[in-house]
Amino acid sequence: MRDGTAVAKESMEIKRVGVLGCGLMGSGIAQVCASAGFEVTVLEVDQKFLDKGFAGIEKSLAKFAERPPEKGGITAQQKDAICARLKGTTNQSDLADRDIIVEAIIENVAEKKKMYASIDGIVKKDAIFATNTSSISVTELLTAVKRPERFIGLHFFNPVPLMKLVEVVRTIATADDVYHTAYEFAKKLGKVPVRTSDKTGFIVNRLLVPYLLDAIRAYEEGVGSLEDIDNAMKLGCGYPMGPFTLLDFVGLDTTYYITQVMYDEFKERRFASPPLLKRLVMAGWYGRKSGKGFYDYSDANQPRANKL
Ligand SMILES: NC(=O)c1ccc[n+]([C@@H]2O[C@H](COP(=O)([O-])OP(=O)(O)OC[C@H]3O[C@@H](n4cnc5c(N)ncnc54)[C@H](O)[C@@H]3O)[C@@H](O)[C@H]2O)c1
Repeated sequence: MRDGTAVAKESMEIKRVGVLGCGLMGSGIAQVCASAGFEVTVLEVDQKFLDKGFAGIEKSLAKFAERPPEKGGITAQQKDAICARLKGTTNQSDLADRDIIVEAIIENVAEKKKMYASIDGIVKKDAIFATNTSSISVTELLTAVKRPERFIGLHFFNPVPLMKLVEVVRTIATADDVYHTAYEFAKKLGKVPVRTSDKTGFIVNRLLVPYLLDAIRAYEEGVGSLEDIDNAMKLGCGYPMGPFTLLDFVGLDTTYYITQVMYDEFKERRFASPPLLKRLVMAGWYGRKSGKGFYDYSDANQPRANKL
C-alpha cells in the first residue's frame, strides 16, 4: 500500500473546514476542528438540526471546561473562542472557500453522491473532500465528483471529542499530496491517524465485526450466558466492555447493516449475520437507543440480560 508520506513531503495548508451534517458525528467533528483552531462552517438541511447539533457541542465543551487542564480541560475563554469559530448554514454556497470538506451526512449512497455532485462545482477546485462513511466504498462516492484524486476517507470514532483514532482511507485514485495533507490534518486535530485502504470495514470493523458476530454465535451455541460472555471478555482480555454491551451501544440495526455490506464485499461466513441478530433487528430491538437489545434498559443504571 502506498502510504503517501514517502512521495509527498508537501502538504497543503488547511485553515477553513466545512463539515456536512451536524448529527452525532458531524457535530463532534466540527467541535474537534474548532477546538484545534480551524474556522468551521457546518452545513445542514434544516436550522433545527444545526440547533440540536450546536446544543450538543455546547454541552460537551461545558464538560471540558469542568476538567483540569492536565486532563484536557479548557477555560471559559477558550470555550467561547471555540464557539466563535463555529458557524452553521443551510446554504451550500457558504462552503465555497473551504480547504477541506468533511462529510458526515446519513449513511446512504444515493444521498451522499447527490450531495457531492451538487457541491463539486461550488467548493474551490483544490479543496479536499473527505467522507466519514463507515461502510460505503469511498471509491464509489468519488465517482460523483470531477476531482477523484482529491477524495479520501477520514473515519472518526464515536464520541469524536473523546476517541483518539482516525482511519485515513486511501483509494486507488487518491493523490499522494492529498493523502499526506489529510493525514497531517488528523494529527492537528489531536487525533492518532492510521493508514488504511478502501476495503469495506477498513481496519477496525474488519477485525471487530467478526469478533462481535462470533460472540453472538457462541451465545447461540450455549457457550455461556450474555453476562458471562461479557464478563469473560472484560476480565479475561481487559476490554472496556463485553461484546453484547458493545453491540447494544453501537446499535444492532447499524451492526446488522454493516454485516450485510461486509458479507456482500467478501462473501465470507465470518461477516454473515447470525440468525439471532437478524431477529432482534426485525423485532425492533436495536439496543440502548430503543431501550431493548441483548439487554433491557428499563432501568438505565442496571441493564438486565434478556432471555433470548
Ligand atoms: N454513529 C457512529 O458511531 C459513526 C461512527 C463513524 C462513522 N459514522 C458515519 O458518519 C456519518 C454520519 O453518521 P451519524 O451517526 O452522525 O448520523 P446522524 O443521523 O446522527 O447525522 C446525520 C446528519 O446528516 C444530516 N443530513 C442528511 N442529509 C443531509 C444533506 N443532504 N445535507 C446536509 N446534512 C444532511 C441529517 O440531518 C443529520 O443531522 C455516516 O456516514 C456514518 O456511517 C458514524
